[in-house]
Amino acid sequence: MDAAALSAVQIDSPHVRVTRWDLPQGSSTGPHIHPFEYVVVPLSAGLMRVSLPDGTQMENHLVPGRCYSRPAGTEHDVRNDDPEPVSFVEVEQCEHSVRHSRLNESGAPVGLPVEFTAPPPLETVTAHGQFVKLAPLLPEHAHGLWEAVRGDPGIWTYLPHGPIHSVADAAQVIDALRNDPGCVPHVITDLAGRVCGTASYLRVQPSIGTAEVGSIVFGTSLQRSYGATEAMTLLAAHAFGLGYRRYEWKCDSLNAASCAAALRLGFRPEGVWRNATMYKGRNRDTAWFAMTDDDWVRVEPAHRAWLAAAAGGNPTQAFRLSEAVANALQQ
Ligand code: NI
Repeated sequence: MDAAALSAVQIDSPHVRVTRWDLPQGSSTGPHIHPFEYVVVPLSAGLMRVSLPDGTQMENHLVPGRCYSRPAGTEHDVRNDDPEPVSFVEVEQCEHSVRHSRLNESGAPVGLPVEFTAPPPLETVTAHGQFVKLAPLLPEHAHGLWEAVRGDPGIWTYLPHGPIHSVADAAQVIDALRNDPGCVPHVITDLAGRVCGTASYLRVQPSIGTAEVGSIVFGTSLQRSYGATEAMTLLAAHAFGLGYRRYEWKCDSLNAASCAAALRLGFRPEGVWRNATMYKGRNRDTAWFAMTDDDWVRVEPAHRAWLAAAAGGNPTQAFRLSEAVANALQQ
C-alpha cells in the first residue's frame, strides 16, 4: 500500500471545503469520490498518476498556478511517482450532509444515526451575567425600551415593526412579542436594571430540537457592547444546555451588520432564500445561519474566554471573538 498523502483542511464550511494536499514521492490520496464539482490549484509542477475505479490509469501534468475543474461524481486514486513532492490546493463544493453520511443496505447515502431525547420547550431565561441580565419581557418595560431606542430610528430598518415614536409604541411592540405564540421574548437590562434591548426565542420545536434567536433590538447603549455578546451567549448556552441540537439566526440578506454578527458569534452561513417574505411593503431575501450542538461545543469556550477577558478589563483588540470562533470551527 502507498504511503498516505498529507492533507490540511483550511476551510470547512457547510458548503465548501478547501484542502491543501502534499504528496511525497510514492504517496497517494487513496481511492475517493468527489460528490460535487471541484477546482484544483497546483502549487508545484509534477506528474500525477490517476487510477479510475475500472482500473484505467491516466497521467495528469500539474503546472503551478494553472488550475482546472472536475465534474461532480469524479472517483479516483491519485499517486505521485515523481521524486519531487507535489502540492496542490483543492476547493470542493461539499455539502455537510454528504460528508456526514453513511451507506445503507441499498448503497444509498443516509444520515448518521441520532440518539435524541426531546428537550423541554424553551421558556424565558432569567440569567445574571457579568454585563447584562435576561428576564421575561413585560408590559412594564415599555418606558425603558423607549428610553433605550429613542433617537435611533435606524434600529428598526430590518425589523418587522417600528420605528417607534413613544412609550405607547414601545408598549405595542412588547404586546405584539408577548402575544405571538411562536415567540419567547426577553428583556435585556444592564446590571442596574435599565432596559437596553430585547431578544427572543422563535420557532421553537422541541420534538426535533431546533430553535431560532431573533426579534433582537439592541438599544443605543447595547450596540457593539460586551453585554450584547453576553446576551447572545447566555441564550445559546441555555438552549444547547437543555439538549437542543440546532440554533438558527436569520435576517434580511441586505442587513450586513446582522450577517456579520451571526458569523462573529459562530453561526455558519447556510444560504439565502430568495423572495422569502415581504415586510414594510418591500421584498426580503432571507439569509440563514445556524449553529449545531457540535458547533457550540467548539465555540462556547471562545465566548467564555472572550467575556472573561472583557470582564477583566483586558483590551479585546488583542482577542477578537470573530477570530477565536473561526479558529474553533476549523478544529
Ligand atoms: Ni480527488
